[in-house]
Amino acid sequence: MSNQSSAKRATFSGRLGYVLTTAGSAVGLGNIWRFPYLAAKYGGGIFLLVYLILVLTFGYTLIISETAIGRMTRKSPISAFAHFGKGAGYRFGGWINAVIPMIIGPYYCVIGGWVVRYLAGYIGGGVQALAGDNFFSEFIANGVSVEGWFLVFAICTVVVIFFGVQKGVEKVSRVMMPALVVLAIVVAIYSVTRPGALAGVKYFLIPDMKHFSWMTVVSALGQMFYSLSCAMGILITYGSYMEKDVSIEKSTSEVELFDTGIAILAGLMIIPAVFAFSGDSAADNLQAGPSLMFITMPKIFGSMGLGTAIGIAFFLLVFFAALTSAVSLAETCASTFEDELHMSRKMATLIVTVLYIGLGTLSSLGFNVLSGVTILGMDFLDFFDFLSNSIMMPIAAITTCILVLRSVTIDGITAEVTLGGAPFKRKKIYTFILKYLSILFLAVILGSSVLNVLGVIHM
Ligand code: PHE
Repeated sequence: MSNQSSAKRATFSGRLGYVLTTAGSAVGLGNIWRFPYLAAKYGGGIFLLVYLILVLTFGYTLIISETAIGRMTRKSPISAFAHFGKGAGYRFGGWINAVIPMIIGPYYCVIGGWVVRYLAGYIGGGVQALAGDNFFSEFIANGVSVEGWFLVFAICTVVVIFFGVQKGVEKVSRVMMPALVVLAIVVAIYSVTRPGALAGVKYFLIPDMKHFSWMTVVSALGQMFYSLSCAMGILITYGSYMEKDVSIEKSTSEVELFDTGIAILAGLMIIPAVFAFSGDSAADNLQAGPSLMFITMPKIFGSMGLGTAIGIAFFLLVFFAALTSAVSLAETCASTFEDELHMSRKMATLIVTVLYIGLGTLSSLGFNVLSGVTILGMDFLDFFDFLSNSIMMPIAAITTCILVLRSVTIDGITAEVTLGGAPFKRKKIYTFILKYLSILFLAVILGSSVLNVLGVIHM
């Protein structure tokens, strides 16, 4: 896929091509690493419920809007926004969408590096060492090691976008994705059948208002954007490659289903294991945050037969899922530089590399060398995650909603979605959310995240 002028613009091969590629971008660390730790931390079943509601309402509205805008204009975000309006507001809207992947990409590669570290550990036969209580904290405290593994992952990503061998990666991910689903089902079954795991299954699946807080909604919304790859212009770009005879609504539903299915499976692998393996410290471990997957999965593998083989398979599949997502993030950054700042692919790749290494290094050293430095009480990785997911993405989503309401119009979107007689079954929900709820809701979320970090309110 390359960004070409509209006449020559590449297209996906039919709906399957679109769905697989979009799912390849959507399914990644967000599903397997981020979703379970947020669900564990912010309420279990009630988080899951809020998340599902958000995916089916706001997520749906945004995906449809972004995809339709992309297909109407055949442009990437900045030009697509400019296509509909010339004001400074629209320019800002286009750019904020384009900048978000530049903030997420680098720290995404840091977590990708953790995955590679664990993969290497299993290949080296360290199944018991990796399951040790302090393995993760000792790893993360070693700046040289974390930085090294981050560079390995970041270089893999940059090499792929430089050579544009995306097609190859996509071919690999067509095999890897189904393999990931099968393995996830096997591990989830193993995990939920451990003694003591039932409490975790209940915690994850049964909503309980006593675990609800406003943070449940804030974090679920950020996670929804992140996981579905929306509110950052990526789907505008993907929509611009979509053929006119593909149903936007059907493919959107499939992507939502696939992405959410994998997230739930990951929750079932990880959360019950917290209860089964951490005994008295289960409550603490639920709060573990970004390290959760790296603490519980090795314990599962350490306790099972064939742990080494399954550990290798698991981290290899997570590695590929992460790489396809990282590539789509980096690719978006590179094409923004190419299209808007008129750079060559070489130059654009170079800038992406410098940006990734710079911001990524801050994140990876934030746990060790730079652990004394915090921004608004957060280490660098948490800060970049918070900045992009809780501040910038709600703003980007608001700009997209305004663009639709003011310029594209709901009728315009409807015409694009129903082109060639394609269905738009959820049009009523779409219209209602967009007209009456979206901007207000997003503004409230944004306002409360800001007030929370400033210490004005406590969520
Ligand atoms: N959605 C991806 C995930 O869940 C992350 C991502 C965001 C990838 C944006 C590409 C673009 O891991």
